Amino acid sequence: MKNIKAIIFDAYGTLFDVNSAAKKCKEKIGEEWESFANYWRSTQLEYTWLRSLMERHKDFWEITIDSLDKSMKYFNIDASMKDELLDLYQVLSTFPEVKITLNKLKEKKYKIAILSNGTPKLLNQLVKSNNLENMFDDIFSIEEAGIYKPSSKVYDLPVKRYSILKNEIVFLSSNTWDVSGSGNYGYNSIWVNRNNNVFDNLDYKPKNEVKNLNQLLDIV
Ligand code: LAC
Repeated sequence: MKNIKAIIFDAYGTLFDVNSAAKKCKEKIGEEWESFANYWRSTQLEYTWLRSLMERHKDFWEITIDSLDKSMKYFNIDASMKDELLDLYQVLSTFPEVKITLNKLKEKKYKIAILSNGTPKLLNQLVKSNNLENMFDDIFSIEEAGIYKPSSKVYDLPVKRYSILKNEIVFLSSNTWDVSGSGNYGYNSIWVNRNNNVFDNLDYKPKNEVKNLNQLLDIV
């Protein structure tokens, strides 16, 4: 890709494995642990979209707690697990190739950043607990825009901070709707399709599709 100035990553699901919290408790949760993790994640995302539409903002940590509460009730998970799951959610693991890919990208001298629904505190904790402190030029949180993705106000943040054009940004997300949102906005958006998923019909075709972040190094 030509004329790229910044490479920006979504956080949850793209750099950090959102299912890793429930996975670490899979003995206690039982065989439904993965369905539970997926339900928690989709409820959490629904709440971000609904709250944006209702204009009733709560930050991502509060939404994570609210969606966990509903999911635990739905799956009949003992309330005593709540604190353990929330603690684990603050130290989610990265996907295995993340650190080595970021290290190699750093040699190429792009701006490297995160753009996420997470609060600054949550994102800093994740970066720190995974020893990624020196990897990012910036960590953009939607809290600065006061509304969740896929609002254009969110995708505007790095464009304004770096004074660059939308199409000078490569954005990577494993979330199809985030690829569609950012691509419609004007980024060169790449879909990180880790699980052989099906893409959306939302007027945007990803500029590229990769199976993991490593494959980005062949593109930029
Ligand atoms: C984020 C969600 C979309 O990190 O994964 O913004």
